[in-house]
Amino acid sequence: MSLTTPKLEKLHEGAKDFMPINGTDYIELYVSNSKQAAHYYKSAFGFKSLAYAGLETGNKEYESYVVVQDKIRLVLTSPLRSGTEVGKHIDKHGDGVKVTALWVDDATYAYNEAMKRGATSFMEPVVEKDDQGQVVRSGIYSYGEVVHIFVERKDYNGVFLPGFKAWNTSYNPEPIGLKFVDHMVGNVELGRMNYWVDFYEKVMGFTQIMSFDDKDISTEYTALMSKVMSNGNGRIKFPINEPAPGLKKSQVDEYLDFYEGEGVQHIAVATDNIIQTVTELQNRGVEFLKVPTTYYDVLEERVGKIDEDIDSLRELGILVDRDDEGYLLQIFTKTVQARPTMFFEIIQRKGATSFGKGNFKALFEAIEREQELRGTL
Ligand code: FE2
Repeated sequence: MSLTTPKLEKLHEGAKDFMPINGTDYIELYVSNSKQAAHYYKSAFGFKSLAYAGLETGNKEYESYVVVQDKIRLVLTSPLRSGTEVGKHIDKHGDGVKVTALWVDDATYAYNEAMKRGATSFMEPVVEKDDQGQVVRSGIYSYGEVVHIFVERKDYNGVFLPGFKAWNTSYNPEPIGLKFVDHMVGNVELGRMNYWVDFYEKVMGFTQIMSFDDKDISTEYTALMSKVMSNGNGRIKFPINEPAPGLKKSQVDEYLDFYEGEGVQHIAVATDNIIQTVTELQNRGVEFLKVPTTYYDVLEERVGKIDEDIDSLRELGILVDRDDEGYLLQIFTKTVQARPTMFFEIIQRKGATSFGKGNFKALFEAIEREQELRGTL
């Protein structure tokens, strides 16, 4: 692994960050049943009802439910009839992430900067208004059919976006401590990782902060390569994976097969107390990848002293890794929809800024055991 310090001068010919981003605004998933998906994210992951758009707001094509937990907003969208763009997306990919929306101060400026650097337009800047003010949104394509929408909401006081109304319901399970999106990983086709690394560098002003090759990320059977791109202030981190040749089919190949193309592999969400969060998730039926308990026999030897009780970590299956700056705790759910495609990571950082390289081998072997059961290894 090579760890490099982001160099600001690389971002804009020695000038400032040309694409300032405040954070993730929302993540929109196209799903086959948004109403039931919303219930799942509320019941299992501790999200609350926030907003709704659909027939009751005059939208005759789509129904969207927005759920929220701290800084994380998920939009779950389904078509109301056949032959829609959303429907075609779901037919091809199954449920998955369509939009990663980025919160910016000026969505027109962000769009123009990206376009002038070679982005492909998804949506020209549009001003959307209601009695709560106005939002400006614009959008560009990323890998596969994923898009980034720039959201400028400084003149808006409404619950989510114009076109949505508050979704009031008495059923809102307790939150489980999910705070914000830590990073979001994309799987791209063999030979395309560097293309997308260049895209994030040139078009979005991101910097590569880490890279892993197949020597870092390989098991007896499968391998992958990954580069991590970060925006100027570090609030947006996009690792990009591509498969590497291995003896059997890698998890990235399996994803690309079942998603029928490139897309978001996992969304990592941060917590301040992973033991509490994961206990609650498991109580609510969320399933996680498990590593052999022998992982914990040598844990302290590998990562040194940590604050958490190792027995609790073993019981829950939480993984630990250390870098120069501290340590992190992480765990990965099994895939969360019918197709073996997207999953979630729960992560707690205690100083560490890396991504758990020390866990890759144990983790990928756990994934391979799942693939074996599916007959897709
Ligand atoms: Fe991750």
